Amino acid sequence: MAKVAPSILSADFANLEKEVKKVEAFGVDFIHIDVMDGHFVPNITIGPCVIESLRKVTSIPFDVHLMIEKPEKYIKDFASVGADLITIHCEATCHIQRALQEVKKYGVKVGVALNPATPLCFIENILEEVDLVLIMSVNPGFGGQNFIRSSLKKISSLKKIILENNYNIKIEVDGGINENNAVEIVKAGADILVAGSAIYKSENPGDIIKKLKMIN
Ligand code: DX5
Ligand code: ZN
Repeated sequence: MAKVAPSILSADFANLEKEVKKVEAFGVDFIHIDVMDGHFVPNITIGPCVIESLRKVTSIPFDVHLMIEKPEKYIKDFASVGADLITIHCEATCHIQRALQEVKKYGVKVGVALNPATPLCFIENILEEVDLVLIMSVNPGFGGQNFIRSSLKKISSLKKIILENNYNIKIEVDGGINENNAVEIVKAGADILVAGSAIYKSENPGDIIKKLKMIN
């Protein structure tokens, strides 16, 4: 069964508690929180204080996707407000290995993310150190974009590397996922599906969540 992580980027920011509770009722596995700084990506979203407030209203694990430059400067802040998983882009720092270790220091699970144009070989030397790889299937910055199909090949190549080396790594895929393409994404090797607009812009979010969760 696929795990589902609704991205609150497409939720109503004036009613975040309600929006989180809405998906909690359907047994989602994570809440995906997109942190953007206006530098690494051309959009600005939320920071640690919003996460701290949300932490008080739900016990669903928080999957924090950092789309910020110099992520190492803010790891302590995000770890201390209740992130369960912190994912850092390998393009955002030239010291990714150090940044990953910094996350682990706080007892938080760690992920590394790759933009659509970044090849898998960029992270090959640090795979043993991560709990998760996030394959971006859109260029990060905005919700509601179209899935980039070349991601499928990247997902299946990563799956092969994981199986061959017996790594304990989950594959998360983020961007443009909906009920029409989710089956082939899971077939390629995805363990966790992030979906923002497909869930939050739907008339019936529960139906979409159930459909995504049932894929295996
Ligand atoms: C994009 C974000 C995604 C985004 C996905 O930069 O990382 O998590 O919310 O939104 P959809 O599912 O609408 O592509
Ligand atoms: Zn994301």
